[in-house]
Amino acid sequence: MREQIPPGPLLFSKDEKMAEEKFPGVFLVGGRLATRNLALGFRVYGEKLVQEGEAEYRLWDLYRSKLAAALHKGLKEMPIKPGASVLYLGAASGTTASHVSDIVGESGAVYCVEFAQRSARDLISVCEKRQNMLPIMGDARLPQEYSEGIGKVDVIYQDVAQPDQDEIFIRNSSAFLKNGGWGMIAIKSQSIDVTRQPKKVFDEFVARVGSEIDVKQEIELSPYDLDHLFISGKKK
Ligand SMILES: C[S@@+](CC[C@H](N)C(=O)[O-])C[C@H]1O[C@@H](n2cnc3c(N)ncnc32)[C@H](O)[C@@H]1O
Repeated sequence: MREQIPPGPLLFSKDEKMAEEKFPGVFLVGGRLATRNLALGFRVYGEKLVQEGEAEYRLWDLYRSKLAAALHKGLKEMPIKPGASVLYLGAASGTTASHVSDIVGESGAVYCVEFAQRSARDLISVCEKRQNMLPIMGDARLPQEYSEGIGKVDVIYQDVAQPDQDEIFIRNSSAFLKNGGWGMIAIKSQSIDVTRQPKKVFDEFVARVGSEIDVKQEIELSPYDLDHLFISGKKK
């Protein structure tokens, strides 16, 4: 939940200086992953804010965001960059999506699809402070219902934890992903089949989405998220 915070010693660290850019828009601040806050003075999920000169950074929690965990564990290419358009499936209350919004900046766009009403309420209040972040209350299984105004995107980021995660990605990729665009997917094996070995579930998933993207990297997310695989790949 976002809240407005006045600057003060408990909220802004003056010790953790020297932001270093790891990828465009992604920083290490005092050795910790961070993004530059697009909504100055606002936190989204209780994350720490760090001031350096004119810039304010939001530390990015590896246990709360699979994208942060994937970056930390060695993601080699980061297609979410300043100016990119991102379709985000399963935005929940906007934890990771808000960092994506920081990265793509004012010239980018983050279309956030979420179907749970409770999460969507929090998501909307995060989007109100970020002009590049648009909430879409909809079911990611039905891309035709939210297609208006999105066009083609540079990246589809998906984290829906559903048994039909593969089909959801394939439908959205064929509707919205640009040629040469990127798919980034957090796969939760337990949501697909609790009775099977995660590795088998992951292998099948990768083979199925292989019809849409050429998978370039697979990152297992433990200890930050158990039984999760993060994959990224380029549209064929
Ligand atoms: C694991 S949470 C996402 C966490 C979020 N990506 C983050 O890092 O901040 C999965 C979310 O996907 C949403 N979801 C699952 N199936 C969906 C669907 N078919 N359409 C839209 N949202 C869906 C759930 O309501 C839930 O909020």
